[in-house]
Amino acid sequence: MTPAEQSRHALDLCRRAPVVPVLVIEDLAHARPLAEALVAGGLPALEVTLRTPVALEAIRIMAEVEGGIVGAGTLLTPADVAAAKAAGARFGVSPGATDRLLDACADQGLALLPGAATATEVMVLLERGYTMQKFFPAESVGGAPALKAIGGPLPQVSFCPTGGISLKNARDYLALPTVVCVGGSWVAPRAMMEAGDWAGITTLAAEAAALR
Ligand code: 3PG
Repeated sequence: MTPAEQSRHALDLCRRAPVVPVLVIEDLAHARPLAEALVAGGLPALEVTLRTPVALEAIRIMAEVEGGIVGAGTLLTPADVAAAKAAGARFGVSPGATDRLLDACADQGLALLPGAATATEVMVLLERGYTMQKFFPAESVGGAPALKAIGGPLPQVSFCPTGGISLKNARDYLALPTVVCVGGSWVAPRAMMEAGDWAGITTLAAEAAALR
């Protein structure tokens, strides 16, 4: 899968809703009801971060939820790419990008949304053919004004900013012409998951889905 094909795939995915939930799943029992709650609220594309022991199994379970498109986040190595593919991930997300990771996604046919935080990083990815990128960590590196400035000379690159984004500031990013969607964990708070408040999560998802 070429980087251009990966970017087209990522763009299609990011166009489905204004927010891609970034999910940290600690309890496997949460996987199915969480996915159902988010999809019911209007957020179909879900990123499960590979940061917990149950993440891959959670992807397997969530991939069966109707209407959901489940991907793997926090991809760092070729082994992560292989594991994510085997678990049924339809896309991958990484906080940054390395040659080994990009090669693995191309070789193994996983559409990657690679992370970049500076103009140089964006340009290196663009040189390889990635026209859809994650801007990370968005708030820490200057927020919407920084992304607006980067987008000035690089209007051919589209972004999913992630990191420190919530209902409060999401619109600042979504107003930029280069921003297709934003990523964020605010739609799946740990406390609500632990309380089994799936209706509450659907309400958060619906608010997020209405952002644009
Ligand atoms: C992450 O990888 O943790 C994402 O950037 C989510 O960031 P957030 O928790 O600030 O939304």
